[in-house]
Amino acid sequence: MSASARDLAALLPAGFTLGVATSAFQIEGALTADGRGPTGWDIFAARPGAIVDDHSPAVSCDHYYRMPEDVELMKKLGIDSYRFSLSWARIQPGGSGPVNPAGLDFYDRLIDLLLANGISPMATLYHWDTPLPLDEAGGWMNRDTAYRLGEFATIAAAAFGDRVARWVTVNEPATVTTNGYALGLHAPGESLMLKALPTVHHQLLGHGLAVQALRAAKVPGEIGITNVYSPMVPASANPLDAVSAGLMDVAQNRLFADPVLLGKYPDVIRAATFFSSSFNPSSEDMELISQPLDFYGLNYYMPTRVASGPGDGAVPPGMAEAMGDDLSGTAPGAPFHIAPFPDTEITGYGWPIKPEYLSVALAEMAERYPDLPPIYITEGGASFEDVAVKDPDMGRLIIPDERRLRYLSDHIATAIKATAPGGAAESVDLRGYFVWSLMDNFEWSGGYKQPFGLLHVDFDTQIRTPKASYYWLQELLSARTKAA
Ligand code: NOJ
Repeated sequence: MSASARDLAALLPAGFTLGVATSAFQIEGALTADGRGPTGWDIFAARPGAIVDDHSPAVSCDHYYRMPEDVELMKKLGIDSYRFSLSWARIQPGGSGPVNPAGLDFYDRLIDLLLANGISPMATLYHWDTPLPLDEAGGWMNRDTAYRLGEFATIAAAAFGDRVARWVTVNEPATVTTNGYALGLHAPGESLMLKALPTVHHQLLGHGLAVQALRAAKVPGEIGITNVYSPMVPASANPLDAVSAGLMDVAQNRLFADPVLLGKYPDVIRAATFFSSSFNPSSEDMELISQPLDFYGLNYYMPTRVASGPGDGAVPPGMAEAMGDDLSGTAPGAPFHIAPFPDTEITGYGWPIKPEYLSVALAEMAERYPDLPPIYITEGGASFEDVAVKDPDMGRLIIPDERRLRYLSDHIATAIKATAPGGAAESVDLRGYFVWSLMDNFEWSGGYKQPFGLLHVDFDTQIRTPKASYYWLQELLSARTKAA
């Protein structure tokens, strides 16, 4: 057994949940099967140039047809919990109106199979794949979408509420607003810049209405939301860098967390929008948004280093291709920019690898939010181009993804140490960590070029091959069981 797995197993607190995560649009394929309705992402992904190399999500991991095989691989891995998302358009093809029994049936079978294998289901209601008719009616710019999500939550609760252990209402609303509505890098491909602000409130309202619906249905499972969190680090002692980092912190972190955990938008947002009648949330809305939660989901990948001024137009290595767009085009005149961390290893996306900032993220959460519910890290992981090599003894393929393995090991260890007595975030009740992702999949505008999986997927043959990181996690889980 590797020292890393054994040492980490010894650190794991009793009851700590280790899981893996995916989302429907990224793995299922089968976009027109059995009555599934189209989504905004189906249309966006077909736009020439929207996705790296115009990769198509049409088949992806073919999980819709290979679900039993994938659950078997999770069982062999030995994980406690699987976080997946429900495809709204499979279950309610129009985003409102009639329910599709075949869509319900797929998730019924998935959930039953997970439970039969001792894996606890965590279901995300909204992981970006908005049914097309809702996008055509304005998507998250339209307040009605929030009510539609509430209704979808009622449907999901009635169908699966008896068996789902944890519910995530909305996944990373910040990414939807920024990439989908402000910058046009994700569906629905709008470049509204600051005019995208209503999408923040409407997604958070959708979260609130979903919580209300799940509570009304009296589901026994825990309920939470998932936000991405990236500590913002000023690039230098220049006060303008600190101001820039503060603005980014508001726009990417606090704008989405404060309303949920404090019941109000950050002051600077309220001041900036004081004269805008389109952004005037009522106290009823804020109460819905800030209802008590059973847990708060944090996706942590990296910190962000921020410098004032437009920079030289360069973006961190890997970032421009990954986003499928020439981001440097937006740099002239920009008040600040993202700067690379010096001497720092990066992932395939160009994301800096800084496990110590996960501790900072947890400490900042504890400091900002006195009533912080228990936390799950609902995603963490790294994309690297993997190379398969033939094992000289056995002749089989092995994928030595040591960098991913180290990323996961370092981040899980950091989170546990930070929240242990004496740690920088000791008041945080950390309940678990979910690896993004079970398998290589359709990484949004990064197509199939940013593999995050513990399982390598050959997209021509659909053969899944466990990587070294899969075997490492398996060892960790079995070492933990032996120690218990
Ligand atoms: C967060 C998103 O929730 C997920 O869909 C995505 O694949 C990962 N980040 C990696 O970019």
